[in-house]
This record gives sequence, structure tokens and C-alpha cells, in this order.
Amino acid sequence: MSLIPDDVIEQVREAADIVGIIGEHVELKRTGADFRAPCPFHGGTHRNFTVIPKKGMYYCFVCHEGGDVFTFFMKRLGMDYPTAVREVARRVGIAIPERGPTGPDPREPLYGAVAAAADWFARQLRESPEAQVARDYLASRRVELDVVLPLALGYAPRGKAFLDAMKGLGVRDEVLLEAGLLVKREDGTLLPRFRGRLLFPIHDLRARVVAFGGRILGEGEPKYLNSPDSPVFHKGKLLYNLHVAKHAMRKAERAILVEGYFDVLRLSLAGIEEVVAPLGTGLTSDQAQLLARHTPHVTLLYDSDDAGLRATFRAGDELLRQGLRVSVATLPAGEDPDTLVQQRGAPGLEAILKDAVDPLERKIQILDRKAFFSSLPGRRRALDRLLPTIRAAKDPITRELYISRAAEAAGVRKDVLERETGNEKRETSRTPTSSVSRVPFPALPASAEKALLLLMLEGDAWRARVVEAVDAEELEFLPYRAVFEAVADDAVLALDDTSARAYEQLREEGLSGRDPNEMYELAVTWMEARRLERQLEQLDDQLPFESPERQASLIAEKRRVFDELRKRYPRYKIAARRRGAPGT
Ligand code: UTP
Ligand code: MN
Repeated sequence: MSLIPDDVIEQVREAADIVGIIGEHVELKRTGADFRAPCPFHGGTHRNFTVIPKKGMYYCFVCHEGGDVFTFFMKRLGMDYPTAVREVARRVGIAIPERGPTGPDPREPLYGAVAAAADWFARQLRESPEAQVARDYLASRRVELDVVLPLALGYAPRGKAFLDAMKGLGVRDEVLLEAGLLVKREDGTLLPRFRGRLLFPIHDLRARVVAFGGRILGEGEPKYLNSPDSPVFHKGKLLYNLHVAKHAMRKAERAILVEGYFDVLRLSLAGIEEVVAPLGTGLTSDQAQLLARHTPHVTLLYDSDDAGLRATFRAGDELLRQGLRVSVATLPAGEDPDTLVQQRGAPGLEAILKDAVDPLERKIQILDRKAFFSSLPGRRRALDRLLPTIRAAKDPITRELYISRAAEAAGVRKDVLERETGNEKRETSRTPTSSVSRVPFPALPASAEKALLLLMLEGDAWRARVVEAVDAEELEFLPYRAVFEAVADDAVLALDDTSARAYEQLREEGLSGRDPNEMYELAVTWMEARRLERQLEQLDDQLPFESPERQASLIAEKRRVFDELRKRYPRYKIAARRRGAPGT
């Protein structure tokens, strides 16, 4: 197979006229910045197929076929990837060398500059008197210096020594700027980006250093400062430690995904090398795809606090969408992988990894513990939280199992759930009475969140009213939150698959004869009640960690919030979420 360099592929993708190319196959009509057509893949008659030139993407809201200009050729004309790239390149007049690039990579100076910087930073950590703080810091976290030196950790001094050192090596300022190692101040003077930080070098798949993550020594903001994206570094498309882990992953037949640099470091030092971390953002679909190329199975090992759990499930859904097998490991409260391995070593960690469970199962555990399944509204809301994971499962068997399991847990019929997940057979969804309209409508939508979205879709006035009353963050069902944000910002075409589907279904459902004013009142009241309820939950979470005096005052506070909730929103079912009255 002839290899086409990645940057050439990018160049071709960017130059391609996706509207022109797809327009040869279907009749596109402009709608705003985008184009619509009947979908050539499932042969629809309505204009559900969108081409988004700004993103170089196409997508069908009905059959969910989507991709870029290359996948279009592959799927429509049965080309393989290199052939599709060459075909598009031919049309845009970009020459693709037959075997590999002939000239040098234009990014060579960038790689060189980052490598020179990495060496210099590493030497500072070993030798410079100023770096004693960093050496002490590592010691305080029980990391031995001679053990980490092969990992090329570094120290960036506070002053401008870096500038002089690079000048001495003949590395040009413009190159350092492009690599994100320098920043330009308003007055035009140059400053090292990293000052007084411990540096974790970030490598690309070919093990070249392309960026750094810099930890502050001690407390301060931001805790980690990362290199910005550059021609050699795209943080959403790379994983920390993948250059090492990819080999280990093949042997171990698994990958372990952790949250932070230090977690990776600790696990590697303990001999577990198949470990990677995202780079300061939630796991992206590109990163999930990257993992899928190297392993069939990913175990998520994130903190067990609320933020960690949210990140876990988001990452889990992303991985399921790539058809990966996913497990969720649960750390004891207050521990992260770093502290756990420090205390219990690799065997302690293996024990926790062995107990890892499927993400849907983990969600059910948590919902069950919070008594969601003990009331009808609770079950409805539990399902809302399970649905994104069910929908994310790309592998048909996993999906089928998920539907059965969720139906069982929530006590609903499997076929009802199948309908909600869009898992029903094609024939039924083609019949004129769509799946949605066959379900008799209740007077109100299934949830307040849904009610708010239905209202927002009724036009600008309603949209403004809802946005005024509710923050996007308050929506707990993530696809709905995404729809809320997108409708509020007029950016509906930027939605991901799951959310786009939710959006289409909402539009199809509409108000269906319901009274918007009544719906608004009920939904907003419900959201307000939930706000109070969240306060209660927070107080609950805090309680066990407080001194007896502080506990007494928190219980009083809790009683006050609880009473207010009951007084103001008598119809809101508190028992759906909380087990008992305050103080019990
Ligand atoms: P953590 O705060 O959990 O990192 O953030 P950590 O590695 O466990 O940090 P220590 O143990 O306190 O040193 C997880 C990851 O999120 C990114 C970093 O990649 C970090 O490793 N992050 C965090 C940032 O990019 N910026 C920040 O300000 C904080
Ligand atoms: Mn940590």
C-alpha cells in the first residue's frame, strides 16, 4: 500500500469542494450556510441529508450515514481510502507523490525546536540549582528522580534563561512561537510559555516530542498549562503516553484510560504500561477512534467523585460509539490512580481493574443506590440517563443486551425501549405513521427538560423565554443539554449524532396540541424544585465529612431547604430522588 502523508491528506481534505463533489450525486439545495438533499444512502425522499461545507462533512439525520469527502467516495463508489484520497486530490490539483514524500517534511524545524527544548528542560530538572523546588516536589509526591529521568520530565525555570539557551542552539524565535513554547506579550516582547513548572513531554505516535503539559509546583492556577495546538500537535487527536502504550496495549489486549499525567506516570512506574490519558479535555471521538485502532478493550479508571463519574460516562459513550468493549473501574472514594498505586502497588490496582464493570451496569448501580428505581418518575428519569449509553453502543449485540438490561432495571417493556433508542426495524419506521405518532400523547411530555425544548422550538419568543428561565447546565440529559445549547445559539447543525437525533425527534413531536403556557409553568416550576433538591444533595454529600457542630448547622440548613421545597412545590416528588426526610 502506498502511504500518503497525513499532512497531504489534510491538505486535500481542506481543498476539496465537498458541495461540488456530492452535488454530482444528489441535488443539493442551500439552507443557510449548509446544503440539504434527499439522502443517497438510504434513498429517502425528504431532505434529511445535510452537507456542511464549513466542516467538510455530510450527515443524514435519518440513517446516520456521515463522514467527509473521502468516506463519501468510499461508500458511494466503493473505493478504498487511498484511492478516494487520490481521486479527490486529482480534482483539486494536488500532486500526491507515488511513494512517500520526496522532499523533507516542512514541519521538520518544529520537531527540532521542540526536541531541543525538551532536552534543555530535562537537563534543568537534573542539574539546575533553581530546579531544586521541582526535585523536592517530585520527592514529596514519592517519585524518585532517577526513575523518571528516562521519561524525560523537565523543569522550566522562572526567568528568561530558556530564550538565551535556544538562541545559543540556533533555534529561531518564530519557530518557538509556532511550537507554542514562547508567547508574545502586547508590547511585542517574547516570554517563555512555561515558567516555574514541572514539564511532562507529550509525544506523538512516532515518539517525537510535540508538546508539553506543565504542572505548577504546589498550589496555583492553572494547575496544568498545556502547549497550544500547533502544526505538530492537536490535543484532541493524541493521547498522552500512546507512543509507549500502543506496544503494551497489544500485548495486554487492553488499554487503561486515566485522567491525568501523574496517573499515567505512576502506573508506568509500577510496570503497567498500557495506560493513556486525554490531554486536558474530555475524551474526543478522534481519541476514541485512535484507541480502537490499537486495542479491543478499554478500562476507564477515573476518580470516583461526581466530576470523575460524569467524565467516565462521557468517555465511555465515546468509546462505545467506536464499537469498543468498555469497562469502568471504581476507585475507593478520595483516591486517584496515583495515590492508590502508591499505597497498594500494582497488585492493588489489578484487584480494582478485575472488578471493573460495564458502563451501563455501573450507571444502573449508581441509580439504584440513589433509589431511582423505587418510584415511577424516578424510573423515567433513570431511563433518560441510561439512554445515551444504550444509543452509544455501536456493536449490535451490546446494544441488544443493553436494551434488555435497562428494560429489566426500569421495569418497562423492551419494545417500548427499542422504540426510544431507534432500534426498531427499518420497515416499521418507514410506515406513514411514524414511531413517535403511534404512541398516544400524554397531556405533558415525559420530562420537564423535554417540555422546555419543545417550547424553544416554537419560535423566537418562546426560545427567549426559556433561555431566560433556565441554564443549559441544568439539563441533566446530555443530548437535551446539547440541543438546548444549539437551539439557543442557532447552531443546530453542529450537534453530534445522538443529540441530532434527539433534536429531529423533538421537532417531529412538536407541541402536539398541548397548551404552551401550561407546559411552561409546570416545566419551569419543576426545574426550580430540582435546583432546591440539588442543594439538598450537596448538603447530604458534605455531611459525613464535617465536625459534629458543623453537622448540626448543616442539618438545620437542610431542614430549611427541604421545607421550602415542600412548601413551594407540593407537586414535586422529592421521594423520587431522596430516600428520607432531612436528618435521617
Ligand atoms: P487532575 O487535576 O486530576 O490531574 O487533572 P492529576 O494528573 O491527577 O494532577 P495532580 O495529581 O494533582 O498533579 C487531570 C488532567 O486534566 C488536565 C491535565 O491533563 C491533568 O493531568 N488538566 C488539569 C489541565 O489540562 N489543566 C488543569 O488546570 C487541570
Ligand atoms: Mn492526581
